[in-house]
Amino acid sequence: MANAETALELIDIHKSYDELEVLKGVSLTAHKGDVISILGSSGSGKSTLLRCINMLEQPNQGRIIIGGEELGLKKDKFGALEAANRKQLERMRSQLGFVFQQFNLWPHKTILQNIIEAPIQVLKQPKAQAVAYAQELLRKVGLLDKQDAYPGNLSGGQQQRIAIARTLAMDPAVLLFDEPTSALDPELVNEVLAVMRDLADEGRTMLIVTHEMRFARDVSSQVVFLHQGQIEEMGPPEQVFDNPTSARVRDFMSSHQG
Ligand SMILES: Nc1ncnc2c1ncn2[C@@H]1O[C@H](COP(=O)(O)OP(=O)(O)OP(=O)(O)O)[C@@H](O)[C@H]1O
Ligand SMILES: [Mg+2]
Repeated sequence: MANAETALELIDIHKSYDELEVLKGVSLTAHKGDVISILGSSGSGKSTLLRCINMLEQPNQGRIIIGGEELGLKKDKFGALEAANRKQLERMRSQLGFVFQQFNLWPHKTILQNIIEAPIQVLKQPKAQAVAYAQELLRKVGLLDKQDAYPGNLSGGQQQRIAIARTLAMDPAVLLFDEPTSALDPELVNEVLAVMRDLADEGRTMLIVTHEMRFARDVSSQVVFLHQGQIEEMGPPEQVFDNPTSARVRDFMSSHQG
């Protein structure tokens, strides 16, 4: 991995909400093809960290480098960082594909329309090209037969697979997942994890916040354990799961792996 290209680099990210400092200097590097799982207790700052990467939250300090390009940041009047250049922010955001716990599909559009909307509107793809690619992605997530259905007629697991296909349609360089299976009934979790596993096998660069321990252990090249806004432990899954140096991580693992 030492020679792999750097896909994403975060350097010393800090984030406070008023007096509450929720990220206290987090740095991490994802090389191309890395799958990095982010674990930690509720409130440790996992979602905040992901949201800072695409400036859905404004960090107070730190640097964000995507595909070798550093995002220009300046302090706003409240002391938080904002993008210095809107165009650059949009360009860098287009490199990031976000998959949330809630799928947020448009209820009044068909599955196919949900997927082709952004490629046509934002990437200005010709419709035929967008449709062909959407169908290829639907086949990949196993739902080509649902292209004319509406989101409300699909199960949660199917909707999340569609949301993943919609994200892939924008061809992002890095995929960010924030607990993509947490809203699902237990019997629907595996079909979504299977799609994510395929993406990992394809060599996609992924950051995944998850509580699915077995999945994280299987697919991750690196595991990051956050505690109160700092990296408590980081390393390959064999280390973080089986042989953590931190007693806190050891306790977390023994209570979460049964
Ligand atoms: N908009 C906000 N305003 C104030 N505090 C916030 C805001 N968003 C998050 N926080 C606080 O920041 C801390 C980190 O929250 P975050 O959502 O990043 O945690 P998390 O690790 O994703 O937790 P979970 O596993 O429950 O999703 C928490 O203490 C939370 O209450
Ligand atoms: Mg969260």
